[in-house]
Formats: sequence, structure tokens, C-alpha cells
Amino acid sequence: MRAFKRCPLRRWERPRLLVPSSRGYSVRVLQDAAPAITTVSDLLSTKPRGDDGFKVQVDGWVRNVRKSSAVRFVDVSDGSCSAPLQAIVQRDLAKDIQFGAAVRLKGTWKTRDTQSGGQAEAAKPPELQVDEVEILGHSTAATYPIQRKYATPESLRGIPHLRMRTPLNSAMLRLRSDALGVLNQFFSEEKFQQTHPPIITASDCEGAGETFRVEAGTAKDPFSESEQYLTVSSQLHLEAFAQALGNVWTLSPTFRAERSDTSRHLSEFYMLEAELSFVEDMEEILDFIQRMLGGLVRGLSQRDAWKELDDFRTNPRDPTARQTMADLDSRDTLERRWDGLLSPDKWPRITYTEAIDVLQGKVGEFEHAPEWGKGLQSEHERYLAKTIGFDRANNAYVPVFVTQYPQAVKAFYMRQAAENPPQGLVFDCFDLIVPDWGELAGGSMREHRHDALLANMDRLLGREAPALDWYMDLRRWGCPPHGGFGIGFDRLLSYLTGVKSIRDIAAFPRLYGHIQC
Ligand code: 4AD
Ligand code: MG
Repeated sequence: MRAFKRCPLRRWERPRLLVPSSRGYSVRVLQDAAPAITTVSDLLSTKPRGDDGFKVQVDGWVRNVRKSSAVRFVDVSDGSCSAPLQAIVQRDLAKDIQFGAAVRLKGTWKTRDTQSGGQAEAAKPPELQVDEVEILGHSTAATYPIQRKYATPESLRGIPHLRMRTPLNSAMLRLRSDALGVLNQFFSEEKFQQTHPPIITASDCEGAGETFRVEAGTAKDPFSESEQYLTVSSQLHLEAFAQALGNVWTLSPTFRAERSDTSRHLSEFYMLEAELSFVEDMEEILDFIQRMLGGLVRGLSQRDAWKELDDFRTNPRDPTARQTMADLDSRDTLERRWDGLLSPDKWPRITYTEAIDVLQGKVGEFEHAPEWGKGLQSEHERYLAKTIGFDRANNAYVPVFVTQYPQAVKAFYMRQAAENPPQGLVFDCFDLIVPDWGELAGGSMREHRHDALLANMDRLLGREAPALDWYMDLRRWGCPPHGGFGIGFDRLLSYLTGVKSIRDIAAFPRLYGHIQC
């Protein structure tokens, strides 16, 4: 403390590590002269110089054991990449090494013996010649629910707490983590502040009544005095942050009690939301979304998990991997999606009224007849995305913005449009739609004028909602024109990776009436 008083800046500018780092790594090189190798992923990309190799300790999980008369070939993974490391363990040392066990292996990281295997062996990464084995966590292969053979996504859903150990599911989790890294960097460079809006709220933001109520499990329940919900969107609170900080974003858990039993809906999901202050023209928000998603795709393509998945897809290591990847959308489809997201041209914009005209020209193709004043069905969105968004010259699916929806199908907080089509009143709002998935994002200009917002509430909520007094306050003092959007993060990741059901991208999917673990 004295040092701080004497010289505050210097103390923080040049931190000195007094306590040596005791951070544990799964891989530790046991001799000098090794570069910074801390994971199996690092080790796999390190070729030892000369024939002697170097001493190393590897902690990880056994992903496979193959037997020969004298040795066991043990695949070990530490979760840093899908490819396992191959360890060669003498038979007598390997007695307790079973599929699924957590192990610590000490040995020598050596180039493979090319004498026996020839060229093909030489092209593979080096291997670990093991001389010490410690079992850190036992496993019984016979009862382990994860097996080496192919398992359908549906069967793996029954064991969400274990399925993340499979190569594909763990790669998806690494990709999610990479996406968070890219987005954090993007928003920070764009000078947006990241915020933490509340999860328990008193307001049903979307006004659709698809809320989970929160109650305490005690006799005298302070939560029941006024109704409390799990948030269906952080938007209203994000608007409060925006009026203090300018441009803000969040990636928060979101809850919807809708009974949609589809491959696109969850009861709990992550929503990426942003609010942009001092914006009058909605085009600025649409351009921002295009820049953000383009940046995300560019960033992901330079990170490991995406490269790993792509490699997995193009060079499956074995029949199990081939079958697993066949459950995802094809590489061609993904290329069309990624190329569309990276399109240098403005993504197409079409008004809802124009969209209805297009759809009514194809009326026989749909189960639900398109009608002005009703919401677009997912089949309508998918059709529009595949036709209007298809860039034939580049063979790419460019996302499409549908704008200016009728007020009756949207939420009370949206800004009334300055011009309306003859069919009725519309809002300055939009949905972003893509092939196969339909709606990926929704957003709008916010009604920043106090009286116009009250009129919206009267008209659409049928009352002046008392729980929204605080939201009206935002209009009383210094509310500039502003707008924002929300993107279903799990839908977005499914679209980017080709996972066909959102239940396989969320680690622990929560569905109406079906919550496991
Ligand atoms: O269109 P929504 O309902 O928009 C809002 O909640 C706005 N308040 C957001 C904002 O402007 N800040 O939801 C936004 C997105 C949808 O486009 C969809 O991708 C996703 O959230 N979403 C769901 N994802 C998975 N499961 C569900 N049940 C979802 N409901 C919406
Ligand atoms: Mg929506």
C-alpha cells in the first residue's frame, strides 16, 4: 500500500511476479530447451530435433487402446484439439489403461520409426514412448457410455454430460469459445462496452407472455409479491446501459417458455444483443450486423477449432469420423453460407410488404398461405432466403434483411415508421433470415419518443404496463434515437457449423418439459 501511495503508476506498469505461477498444464516438458509447449495440441505440432526426442509429461484422457503382442497403442487427448496423441506403452505398464481413464504418462516425444511404416508413418506426428504410467482417474471401458463406434446425435442427447467428450462435440465447444474470443475483440475494437443485464426481471420484454415465472421455494416468498420472470431478452435493460455508455452489447442467457418443439428452438439459449445510440437510420444497424457477422466468420476461419472441423470433414480419420460428419450439413452448403456471410456487397433488403407479394406469387408451395398482417412462417423465411439471398454468380447464400413488419406482429417498443404501406401501420424493424434456419436475428429502431411509446403500449399491450414505468423513465430524460438487435447465438453457431439441430450445439439443451441434468 505504501508503494502505491508513493508511486501508483510505476507499480502497475511494471508488475513483478512475486509468487511463481503454479498454473497446471496438461503437458509439461521435463527438460530445458523446449519451446512453450503446454497442451497436446502444441505437442502434436512439435517435431523433436534429432533422433533422441525430449522428455515430457502428458496428462489426458484415454480415447482408444489398440493392442499388439508387446505394446499398447494408446490415444490420449487433453481437450485442446480433436486429434489425439499416440502413446506407445509396454504391455505390463498398460494394465490399468482403459478407454475413458484419466492418465499421466511420462516418456520421450520422438519421431516415429519410419523403418517399419515407411513414408506414411513418417508423415504422421511424432509419438510418445512411455516409461511411466499413473492412473489419475479410473474408468471401466465396458460400462463407459461413450464408445469408439459411431453414435447417432439422438442417442448422444441422452448423455449430455458425457457427449461433450466426443471429438465432434468437443470441437464444437472449442469453436464456441473461439467465437466468444472473436466477438469480444470485434466489439472492443468497435468501442462497444460489454454489459451484464439481469436474468431475473419484472418485465416481459417481448410482451408475448412466453415467460418462466420465478418463485422462491420458501413459505413467505418475497418473489411472489410482484411477478418476476426469467428474462426473454436483455434489450430493455440494455437500452438503459446504452443511455449511460453509448454503444453496448451482451451475450446473455435468455429463457422462453414457448412450446415450440422444433430443431431451432430452446427454452434456454444465449442471445447476443447490441444497442447503438444516436442512430436515426436503421440502415446503420443493418450494416453493423453485416460487418459483425463477416468479422466473426473471418476471425473463426483463422482460429484452430474451425480449421480442425474442416479438416475433420475433408479428411475423416476413420469410418466413425466419416459417419459422424455425415450427420452435419455438407461442406458445399457451408461454403455457400460462409461465402455469403463474407459477401463484400450490401446484403439484400426487402420490406415485409414486398416479401408478401413474392410469397403470394408462389402460394401453392406453402403449407401456410402468406397473408399481409400475419407473421412470416419459417417455411416463408426459408424460401425468401434461398431465392432472394442466393448469389448465383458466386454460388453463395447471402443473408437477407426483411424490414418494416406490421405493428400487430411485432413488439411495443419499436419505432413507428414515417411511411406506411396502404395495408396498414408498420414499424422500423427487421429480421435477418438465412436458408434452412429462417430467422437468425431480430431488431429495430426503438420508439424513443415518450408519447409515441405510450401510444404503442396502449395499442399493443392494451394498457399502460406499470412494470414498465422504469422503461418510460428512459424516455423522460435524454433519450436519443437509437436501435439494436438480438441474434440467437446457438442458432448462429448451428448455421456456421452445419449442425442440423440446435439441441446438438447447446451443451445442455433445455426444452419445454424436458430438462436433463
Ligand atoms: O426476435 P427475438 O424475439 O428478438 C428479441 O427478443 C429482441 N428483443 C432482440 C433485440 O432487439 N435486442 O429474438 C432474437 C433472436 C431470434 O432471431 C432467434 O435467432 C433467437 O433470438 N431466438 C431463439 N433461439 C433459440 N431458441 C428460441 N426459443 C429462440 N427464440 C428466439
Ligand atoms: Mg423475432
